[in-house]
Amino acid sequence: MKRYLVTGGAGFIGSNFVLHLLRAHDDVRVVNVDALTYAGNLENLREVEGDPRYAFCQADIRDAEAMAAVVAAEEPDYVVNFAAESHVDRSIEDPGIFESTNVGGTVNLLNVCRAAWERPGGGVGEHRYLQVSTDEVYGTLSLDEPDTFFRETTPLSAHSPYSASKASADLFCRAYGDTFDFPVLITRCSNNYGPYQFPEKLIPLMIHNAVHHEPLPVYGDGLNVRDWLYVEDHCAAIDLVLRKGRIGEVYNVGGHNERANLDIVETIIRLVSERLDDPEINDGLITFVEDRKGHDRRYGIDAGKIAAELGWEPKTPFEEGIEKTIDWYLAHADWVERVTSGAYKAYYEEMYGHRGAARA
Ligand code: NAD
Ligand code: DAU
Repeated sequence: MKRYLVTGGAGFIGSNFVLHLLRAHDDVRVVNVDALTYAGNLENLREVEGDPRYAFCQADIRDAEAMAAVVAAEEPDYVVNFAAESHVDRSIEDPGIFESTNVGGTVNLLNVCRAAWERPGGGVGEHRYLQVSTDEVYGTLSLDEPDTFFRETTPLSAHSPYSASKASADLFCRAYGDTFDFPVLITRCSNNYGPYQFPEKLIPLMIHNAVHHEPLPVYGDGLNVRDWLYVEDHCAAIDLVLRKGRIGEVYNVGGHNERANLDIVETIIRLVSERLDDPEINDGLITFVEDRKGHDRRYGIDAGKIAAELGWEPKTPFEEGIEKTIDWYLAHADWVERVTSGAYKAYYEEMYGHRGAARA
């Protein structure tokens, strides 16, 4: 039996990963450690609450004592670190918490695992630590060179405080591998979408606003490109890298699915309008607003290494994934209502109130 300690397991990808593990393996123990920030929601995990293979522990990855206690009690074979501040716009407003959680929290977790796993004579047994990183650490690609992609060897060149914090954490992970022989693996994934994503991110925010006939705020000219991957495919990739990846290696994970933001927004409008049979949901809702500061133009992943070494390929075509996602959000209006009430309203005003319509 494999024992997993998943940090940030109440967030978007983390909760999908916990559900994935419990569906994919009978013989498994999954302990979810999450501080339950605004982005953490235990409601995502309601279906596994009573599962004897699963446990939740509320703790902060920056808390050395709490993390050492949970590692000592649970003796995980695998630690998967999802816990992070994850939203670029928030990092532009308040970089400090990104440094504290994403860098400080990661270093703390590395120290705790190292102390628990290191043997007196050297070596760490069969343990593995996986850092969930992002393609944003590579910086940006140009729209003029569509055949250029991020590879694992692409130099780190982060632009936002968020990506700088993730790149910094990656360097610490690599340093612990090189210096202490610590069993680290890093995955760098492109933009995820699917159920349980907090509606501050592009796809759920646009679905939410379309349903409510509210303006759809597209940054800049709407031509920035992201490489979209259905979250379930990302979860499968992480589990595979954890079990079969080569220690010390970085694996890029991507969807072979680059799309301009405007294309995504128009697709959402069309599908939501069709499903609700509501002609008032149309392109007239699109509102071009002030661009994000330091906005990376294009992300595109070369996922050839994970395909060649581990046989992973994305399984969900975008047309299928986006329909599943929209249907999930329409069927879970109560979930959306709960996560967008209260603090979300203040956040929305802070992020979009000053932006105005750059071009309507
Ligand atoms: P999210 O914001 O939805 O969830 C983050 C989770 O971490 C929340 O449950 C939150 O409560 C928890 N958390 C935050 N600070 C914590 C702390 N100090 N201690 C313990 N828990 C804490 O994020 P997500 O979109 O699910 O992303 C998860 C990870 O994947 C992040 O590391 C992110 O950088 C990375 N990633 C995300 C994407 C994407 O498209 N969303 C793509 C590539 C990589
Ligand atoms: O690439 C992986 C990254 O993807 C992850 O590491 C991050 O955690 C995750 O948040 C995501 O970052 P992005 O900045 O790419 O995602 P976001 O959904 O915030 O924005 C996607 C694109 O849409 C980006 O070009 C900005 C644009 N956008 C976003 C919002 C929220 C808009 O035009 N309008 C919006 O209101």
